Amino acid sequence: MTNEVGGFFVIQGFLLSRHCFQSAFHFLIPLRILQMRRAIYPGSFDPVTNGHLDVIGRALKLFDEVIVAVARNDEKQALFSLEERLNLLRETAGKIDNVRIAEFKGLLVEFARTKGAGAVIRGLRAISDFEFEFQMALMNRKLEAGVETIFLMPKEEYTYLSSRIVKEIARLGGDVSNFVPACVAKALSRKFDR
Ligand code: PNS
Repeated sequence: MTNEVGGFFVIQGFLLSRHCFQSAFHFLIPLRILQMRRAIYPGSFDPVTNGHLDVIGRALKLFDEVIVAVARNDEKQALFSLEERLNLLRETAGKIDNVRIAEFKGLLVEFARTKGAGAVIRGLRAISDFEFEFQMALMNRKLEAGVETIFLMPKEEYTYLSSRIVKEIARLGGDVSNFVPACVAKALSRKFDR
């Protein structure tokens, strides 16, 4: 409980001058930012699905801030442009407290370092994901020992869900409304002209 009384701040029975209060305040805010447990959730997000959102929700239970980072990967042929993928993420995950949306180019561990993140989050759905994820996690650890990879399992009903399957269903005229947020379903039907 903080009250200001004639240029002094009373904090739970302690009397502090305004100067003292402001100095403490200016010192504690950067300290809080430095101490933040921050994780990067990287991916292609072409497009974001309910499975991704589920993983973000789980990551937020472990971290103060989650940066959802879209890889600018020129080698991968995406359905949605980088800007479209970022916008769909801003409209969905970006609305959740303590989630930031970003793009990155180059090495993931470098990006994590520049953001002061100590962890990379990856969703693990099935054994089929494991080999690639294991290789990537160990290589990232070799490149930067200070960044841990944490695997989170989405809700069971999303274990068979992937952006690739969602795109295929939408392309063939199927209903994807149970698998993706409404804005993504709309964007998919616009892409496939339905
Ligand atoms: O959603 P995806 O396509 O499975 O995400 C893969 C991604 C973007 C996380 C991965 O390709 C990646 O980290 N790319 C950045 C480049 C990099 O750091 N490569 C070395 C990883 S071993």
